[in-house]
Amino acid sequence: MSIDNLYTPLKLGALELPHRIIMAPLTRMRSPGGVPTALSAEYYAQRASAALIVTESAAISAQALGYPDMPGLYNAEQIAGWKRVTDAVHAKGGRIIAQIVHSGRTSHSSYSASGALAVAPSAIVPVGGQAFTPSFSLEAFEVPRALETHELAGVVESFRQAAENAISAGFDGVEIHSANGYLLDQFLQDNSNQRTDEYGGSIDRRARLLLEVVDAVAQSIGADRLGVRLSPSGNFNDMRESDPVGLFSHVIEALSDRAIAYLHLIEPRASSVGLGDDLSFDVANNARRFRRLFKGPVISAGGYTAQSGSEALAAGDADAIAYGRMFIANPDLVERFKSSADLNRYDRNTFYGGAEQGYTDYPALNAAQ
Ligand code: FNR
Repeated sequence: MSIDNLYTPLKLGALELPHRIIMAPLTRMRSPGGVPTALSAEYYAQRASAALIVTESAAISAQALGYPDMPGLYNAEQIAGWKRVTDAVHAKGGRIIAQIVHSGRTSHSSYSASGALAVAPSAIVPVGGQAFTPSFSLEAFEVPRALETHELAGVVESFRQAAENAISAGFDGVEIHSANGYLLDQFLQDNSNQRTDEYGGSIDRRARLLLEVVDAVAQSIGADRLGVRLSPSGNFNDMRESDPVGLFSHVIEALSDRAIAYLHLIEPRASSVGLGDDLSFDVANNARRFRRLFKGPVISAGGYTAQSGSEALAAGDADAIAYGRMFIANPDLVERFKSSADLNRYDRNTFYGGAEQGYTDYPALNAAQ
């Protein structure tokens, strides 16, 4: 079957995409002090033929950090580092959006100068999995501190400020990370949110923090430059929800009403963060299940090939497809798909941390020939 439908233009809020092959957000842990380097600029610029680049998640505040050498978007040095990245991508004709995150309970006390515990909706530790410390060692997750109600306005403001900083850094927009078990997802789902204030309990209340963040960011940078990423039925970071269809239907309808630029859904068939290489097929199909609830464009991610991505578009399940691991290994993925060329294989050992190796040294097709 032809994959031509991946190569038609798409309007995503204020952005005009020349085609529909998107680079998924990919944490690479190569920004010491939270500042993206010249190497980060080279890495993203190599991938500028993507219809849209969504960056690795950037912390909205020092409290939001959860991975070693992850970038931030909360101080002048970080903004300047990102400006190098956005300039390099724009110089090559690309478009780039910043993904912003608060890590919540997946962080670790070693990120805090005073040894403060990670924060979360409730004092519930994720079972299984480990925290990455600033020195790249893995430690058991700690029982987090439940945020006080009066602190939540500060979390909303940090998201808003980080979004404003992203625009100052030259980004074309912002994606709010409300997936994969980080703070906003922890508020949504009932195995991590057992609050008794107005941010816990009913679906409506659990969705409140995310929607406050969305409203504040939309007010600041415009809804047409704002996307939201969700991972219904994903279990990374020990997430579980007793009513995933009810919860995520409510959230997606509320986002649809707000006319944000796009909704980004992760499919649970691939581990939400690409931890395993195999796909499972006895799980929910989020794009199919939720697409009709959102009026704007939907990006779908998770274990796609060129063929299966094209089929999802043809079926009307999504409007664009995001590729993660394939974009790590293939800077020219868009051109390779088009010419049915062989793909470089990704090397899991160099996903996180390090320098050029496994970052900027994957060859493009014409360089390999
Ligand atoms: C990820 N993923 C991810 N997701 C996200 O929303 N923010 C992030 O920072 C990251 N970081 C990240 C790092 C690495 C090394 C991998 C492999 C994955 C998840 C990613 O965006 C995507 O949803 C999954 O990789 C599934 O897509 P693929 O890889 O099957 O195309």
